[in-house]
Amino acid sequence: MERKRVLSGVQPTGVLHLGNWLGAIRNWVELQHQHDTFFCVVDLHAITVPHDPALLAHQTRQTAALYLACGIDPQLATVFVQSHVPAHSELCWLLNCITPLNWLERMIQFKEKANKQGSQTSVGLLDYPVLMAADILLYNADLVPVGEDQKQHLELARNIAQQRLNTRFAPHRETILNVPEPLIFPEGARVMSLTDGRNKMSKSDPNDNSRINLLDAPEVVRKKIKRAKTDAATGLTFDDPERPEASNLLALYALLSGGSRAAAAEECGQMGWGQFKGMLSEVVVDALRPIQQRHGELMGDPAVLDRVLSQGRQRAEPVAKASLERVRTALGLVPRNLELS
Ligand code: TYM
Repeated sequence: MERKRVLSGVQPTGVLHLGNWLGAIRNWVELQHQHDTFFCVVDLHAITVPHDPALLAHQTRQTAALYLACGIDPQLATVFVQSHVPAHSELCWLLNCITPLNWLERMIQFKEKANKQGSQTSVGLLDYPVLMAADILLYNADLVPVGEDQKQHLELARNIAQQRLNTRFAPHRETILNVPEPLIFPEGARVMSLTDGRNKMSKSDPNDNSRINLLDAPEVVRKKIKRAKTDAATGLTFDDPERPEASNLLALYALLSGGSRAAAAEECGQMGWGQFKGMLSEVVVDALRPIQQRHGELMGDPAVLDRVLSQGRQRAEPVAKASLERVRTALGLVPRNLELS
């Protein structure tokens, strides 16, 4: 049976946090065994908001190292840097020309980020979801494992593929590009901020205490959890909508301790915040330890990572080029492999 194609990516903005791991990368690790998987570091997305050029290359390599440290096996999965495969930018342009502007203006993440950037909002920020669609469609991905916050962007990628490309440019022929499905695992799909349980944990939150970064030292993890927002009630529960922090931290405990949600609720149902936070801190520190150790080894030996990224590019490029060529042909562009006479 043909294996399903999977593609996903993370932006190399800052250090990845628990939300990126539990909402996305942890699931990729499972998927790589049964599927044909492509995982890219989306550096072109990271420059859609103001960034520090002195840091971008380091953070791109660090993100790739974290993929591997979290368990992505480059023998099984194709790991590469988005900007190393120029077809991403090229398909993005072609898709730009067939995507209605008002589809992009509706995107929640665009509106939120544009609000912060004001008059400095870049064209790239508006175009972010089209580049993301290009990432996915170039590989004819069947499944795209992401956290809950990416659902709207996935819907856009599906609409571009189906309504703007396949239906308009190949009404009677085979589909030009595959229409992908989002794959959202409910557990970990929405990890919330430590300082406000009603907001998601995010790299762009200016308060570093709002998130646990995968490279935070144990004492930093303990300090952040100690300071995490609590409420006046005793006992941790999932079921009280008025207690989003309790629900979020208990979910983290269940996920990282490897037990079920029911077992975590039973264990912590009567516990005071102090005792619970102590336990949660140790579970988080224990979960991050092997990731940090492996990450340190990888960053200490750049040749290994370079080889992985170079092999990844070599595997990704022909797949991407073939899809790009199909779209070019469908849109009526002159083929570029003309014989010289
Ligand atoms: P990024 O870097 O913002 O997020 C990367 C992944 O982490 C998930 N995530 C979360 N999951 C649970 N709880 C959270 N608090 C949380 N925060 C982030 C995101 O849902 C995502 O899966 N636009 C994408 C990057 C991208 C992409 C792609 C993804 C570019 N091209 C093609 C899939 C396919 C993004 O959100 O990056």
